[in-house]
Amino acid sequence: MKRRKSKNKYQSDHFAKKAKKENFPARSVYKLQEIQQKFKLINKGDRVLDLGCAPGSWSQYAARLVGGQGQVIGIDQKKVSQKFPANVSMLTGDVFDLARKDKENLAEIVGKGYSIILSDMAPATTGRKEVDAARSHQLCHAALAIARQILKTGGCFVCKIFQGEDFNEFKDAVCNGFDAQKIFKPRSCRKESKEIYIIGIGKKQEEN
Ligand SMILES: C[S@@+](CC[C@H](N)C(=O)[O-])C[C@H]1O[C@@H](n2cnc3c(N)ncnc32)[C@H](O)[C@@H]1O
Repeated sequence: MKRRKSKNKYQSDHFAKKAKKENFPARSVYKLQEIQQKFKLINKGDRVLDLGCAPGSWSQYAARLVGGQGQVIGIDQKKVSQKFPANVSMLTGDVFDLARKDKENLAEIVGKGYSIILSDMAPATTGRKEVDAARSHQLCHAALAIARQILKTGGCFVCKIFQGEDFNEFKDAVCNGFDAQKIFKPRSCRKESKEIYIIGIGKKQEEN
């Protein structure tokens, strides 16, 4: 007897096939596409930092949006082998190391003046929801620490988090640093996944 595919499995196959057809290295591109369609955060000429960029679909999509006058810098602990247009640069490194640097050292490595910082970082999952959520929470704070240093005033921050007991704490941290904050779960996320995106819009001016 033929087994019917579950709705989740069907949805996941659908986005994976679509990504392959449209030459994106990962299905996750459709999450950023949905974020962009709803919030219109990335504009022509923007400078974008993409944390946890491998295998590169967010960077590839962002590069199209910013165009030739804009720039995308991607960073991941894994080396990215994909070829990108000239307005994309890829760095290999650990975001926790970057987050510990002071502003000047950080700017020397990744540059500064970013209009948007994206983080689709995810820890290697263990299957234990509370452990995975705690590790995701640490990655989110590393991304936010980087945004505090090198995101322009008025800039935006998009950050994936696995929902767990620290979710509200991180949501409040984003709320404090930005004029507006949104929570968004793209339809292309796997239904069973605990991931969700916290979006900070309009970085507040730093206090001296
Ligand atoms: C879901 S994937 C990102 C997919 C990517 N947005 C795309 O569309 O191609 C999550 C990435 O986070 C990266 N990552 C996790 N922890 C990291 C860390 N400490 N430093 C840098 N990258 C990290 C992983 O190596 C992985 O490539």
